Amino acid sequence: MSRKAANIISAQIILKNDCVLGLATGSTPIGIYDTLTHWCEKGDLDFSEVKTVNLDEYVGLDGTHDQSYRYFMNKNLFDRVNINKENTNVPNGKAENAEEECERYHNVIESMGGIDLQLLGIGNNGHIGFNEPADVFEEKVHKVELTESTIQANSRLFDSIDDVPRYAYTMGIGEIMSAKRILIVASGKVKAPIVKELIEGPVRPEVPASILKFHNDVILIADEDALSLVK
Ligand code: F6R
Repeated sequence: MSRKAANIISAQIILKNDCVLGLATGSTPIGIYDTLTHWCEKGDLDFSEVKTVNLDEYVGLDGTHDQSYRYFMNKNLFDRVNINKENTNVPNGKAENAEEECERYHNVIESMGGIDLQLLGIGNNGHIGFNEPADVFEEKVHKVELTESTIQANSRLFDSIDDVPRYAYTMGIGEIMSAKRILIVASGKVKAPIVKELIEGPVRPEVPASILKFHNDVILIADEDALSLVK
């Protein structure tokens, strides 16, 4: 699964060396980032002109905090490939003013001229980025209160559940949907019910990932476990 996804990202970089990649954190992309690192070390892939914009960041965590998404990206990809760190973007979890940070990050995405390829994972509750199940699809970068299910799922990475931040900044559905191509990855039995819902269910904001049905260039890469409930 990781090799297939890495192949698609790698093809994007080869076709357009200064492309804009939208990136995700979480467990699922780790193998993808390992594979890309390996190909870069071999000299088959060149990140020197690539620009990146990440989906989200926890509110309150500094980029040096080992559970921040900036730290994750540096550790799993940026510090291992020949990317110019100045061309990498993650929301600032320590921003003093949330509204200004949302506006700033929206403008970062706009100023890059849009995302060529957006990598997404999927939450057990259908979230993409941190767009949690809601009554409406939120369009732009916003600050979101994480649901109990997400806090529970992410607590595996913190010493205690009380340490998991309650809020995050996330790209909105509009910015994600504006990406020219979307690559969504899912692995493991725990994702089987939501992958079934994604493929077979209707489009509704209670399942934020369902909006992807309205995008004209989406690739889903999933392993057998994640696909095990699909008819
Ligand atoms: C991470 C992100 C989240 C994750 C999702 C799945 O930047 O935006 O939407 O993609 O929570 O996480 P994993 O891969 O850990 O199951």
